[in-house]
Amino acid sequence: MNLELSGLHVSYDGSRILRDVSLTVQPGQVVCLMGRNGVGKTTTLRAITGLARTDQGTIRLGDTLLNGLRPEDRARAGLGLVPQGRDIFPTLTVWENLRIGAVAQGRKLAGELDRVLTLFPVLKEMLQRKGGVLSGGQQQQLAIGRALLTDPRILLLDEPTEGIQPNIIDQIGETIKRLSTHGLTGEEPQRAEEIQNAIQTLRKEARLGILLVEQYLDFCIEVGDAFYIMDRGAIVAKGPIGELNDDIVRQHLTV
Ligand SMILES: Nc1ncnc2c1ncn2[C@@H]1O[C@H](COP(=O)(O)OP(=O)(O)OP(=O)(O)O)[C@@H](O)[C@H]1O
Ligand SMILES: [Mg+2]
Repeated sequence: MNLELSGLHVSYDGSRILRDVSLTVQPGQVVCLMGRNGVGKTTTLRAITGLARTDQGTIRLGDTLLNGLRPEDRARAGLGLVPQGRDIFPTLTVWENLRIGAVAQGRKLAGELDRVLTLFPVLKEMLQRKGGVLSGGQQQQLAIGRALLTDPRILLLDEPTEGIQPNIIDQIGETIKRLSTHGLTGEEPQRAEEIQNAIQTLRKEARLGILLVEQYLDFCIEVGDAFYIMDRGAIVAKGPIGELNDDIVRQHLTV
């Protein structure tokens, strides 16, 4: 399912924050939304999830028009959000934090929990601990795991590397790449013909589209397929990640 924003305008208290924002995320694609502090990246995610009201423009997930749907219905339609700052419930256990999104949707968990724990083995050892005692990197993995358990088609990640040490950033990067190409279900196929078959199936269902809000340039280049750069609420540059050059970076990203 594609996520497609078209001509989005958003204001807070009468002042325009987003202007004419259009972008597309396809299944299996990691799309980086980049830009300096305060340019409107989080607001874009809030508009997608229904937490910020749009003045104009459309948001579609596959054939579904999301405008007008409540946030919980948008989540059910296939959006998973990992918010900036992660929003872990500090007094709930890791296990409770993981289940909460799926439970809120009335979703029964079967094998998904095992798959999330395979993806983030560190959480497995910590299921009974309080979310609040986890390190920043562990909380980030928990927040991604929680979002995956609602079985999203599109995963929205808001600055997952913020305040996290480099080796955990690498792990998260690997996870993002793996999720986009294999989804939560796919094991890494071993042989050529298996790969052929697996690709067919995964293309149809398992692959996730990922919209990654990120300011860490090297991380975007490492995991991203495409980029959009936002400045003062508008998209000012976009393209395949290979076209992200020094000029663009100097003009719109470095401070
Ligand atoms: N609830 C709100 N009410 C009023 N203004 C807001 C609100 N939330 C954000 N803004 C303003 O909207 C603009 C965009 O904020 P946003 O959080 O989208 O930026 P961002 O690109 O995510 O920044 P950062 O990289 O620092 O997270 C900022 O000028 C901010 O002050
Ligand atoms: Mg933000």
